[in-house]
Amino acid sequence: MTHPDSLECIRCREPYPLDAYDRLCAACAADGVSSNLSLRYPDAGVPDRDALPGSPNSLWRYEQFLPLAASDAMTLGEGMTPMIAVEGFGHGSIRVKDESRNPTWSFKDRLATVAVSWAKSIGAPAIATSSTGNAGAAAAAYAARAGLPCVVLTYKGAAGAIVSQMRSYGAMVLTVPAMDDRWRVLSAAVQQFGWFPTSPFFGPAIGSNPIGIEGYKTLAYEIAEQSDWNPPDWCILPVCYGDALYGMWKGFDEMIRWGWIKKMPRLVAAEISGSLTAAMESRNDMPPVVSRNSKSIAGSIDVTQGTFQAHAALRQSGGMAITLADDDLVRARNKLATGSGLSVETASAAAFAAVDMLSANDVIKPGDDVVAILTASGLKDFGVARIEPLGAMDVAPDLDSVLRALGEHYDYHV
Ligand SMILES: Cc1ncc(COP(=O)(O)O)c(C=O)c1O
Ligand SMILES: [Zn+2]
Repeated sequence: MTHPDSLECIRCREPYPLDAYDRLCAACAADGVSSNLSLRYPDAGVPDRDALPGSPNSLWRYEQFLPLAASDAMTLGEGMTPMIAVEGFGHGSIRVKDESRNPTWSFKDRLATVAVSWAKSIGAPAIATSSTGNAGAAAAAYAARAGLPCVVLTYKGAAGAIVSQMRSYGAMVLTVPAMDDRWRVLSAAVQQFGWFPTSPFFGPAIGSNPIGIEGYKTLAYEIAEQSDWNPPDWCILPVCYGDALYGMWKGFDEMIRWGWIKKMPRLVAAEISGSLTAAMESRNDMPPVVSRNSKSIAGSIDVTQGTFQAHAALRQSGGMAITLADDDLVRARNKLATGSGLSVETASAAAFAAVDMLSANDVIKPGDDVVAILTASGLKDFGVARIEPLGAMDVAPDLDSVLRALGEHYDYHV
């Protein structure tokens, strides 16, 4: 395997040392654009697609394209998730990459396994994150795996189940009043103590730790492999900072350069604020702030400004952004659970609502091959507004009472 030798700005290609994973590009910042960095590897020739090892049964199968060897990985068996056919979203059959099968029940394990492994390898004293949700839960689990302390700075009102999940791994979870406070405190700890940040911690956000983002390349590798190296026409996913979006784009781009695949899927960002949608219509690199009057029920992706890295991935793949309302998410979540047996977090439902909308508008054409990324499990946020956990009916223990209750309450008649 080849080890990365540097970081570089994804916008202007300015090189940075490997330990600049906690910075934005200064040159682009002077230009008014907050741009993330990305790992660069020395040229190692064209890898052989047919020589990919069959093991381990995790994303570390792709170790030669990741920053560390599988033998140095803090792993819980993440990745290699199934692809499942689903109907009912206005487009015949679509394929669903079910990331809720990951160890902490979300796609964030792909980032966390790589980021925490790197932190361990450089001797970082602690993992730190300002994530309110799945990224924090994943960081907490992998920190536990690595035997490192994990500090999560969150705010009051973060999803209860996910906070409990973080605590269950032993993470130290603290709430501070506002987003800016979280970032300020984290920034000071990163500078003073060398805590390893896995999430963004200054604004305007650039995205998460670029070493962790490498883990998302494996989503692209797996999708290509599961498609017999004929990538789908579309890959659709819910987007917040665009970490997975950019990582997937990078993975597909590598495979095109290696001659493994012939085309880049069009990437679609299903978003809440409309920031990326506005950016795609403008000439500006930096997506604008789009304020909202109320919080979205999709807390995991509820930000008011997209990132440059997300915008770049959309443009470079000929993709687009779709803005969704709470009603769209509730409808898609319910339809997926009752119609296909897949219970997803509200944020994840955004990808399916986007398929519905793009098919109805004839943007996605009949016959197109569509992959939606199911990013996290429904168990994460039962109980958010309008997604109440449905209770059971009390019934007397005899068949007549059971049949009567089924008829009266569920309209089911035998
Ligand atoms: C369930 C879920 N889906 C999608 C996202 C979007 O993540 P990203 O930052 O990769 O755009 C997140 C996290 O922010 C999430 O928790
Ligand atoms: Zn730059």
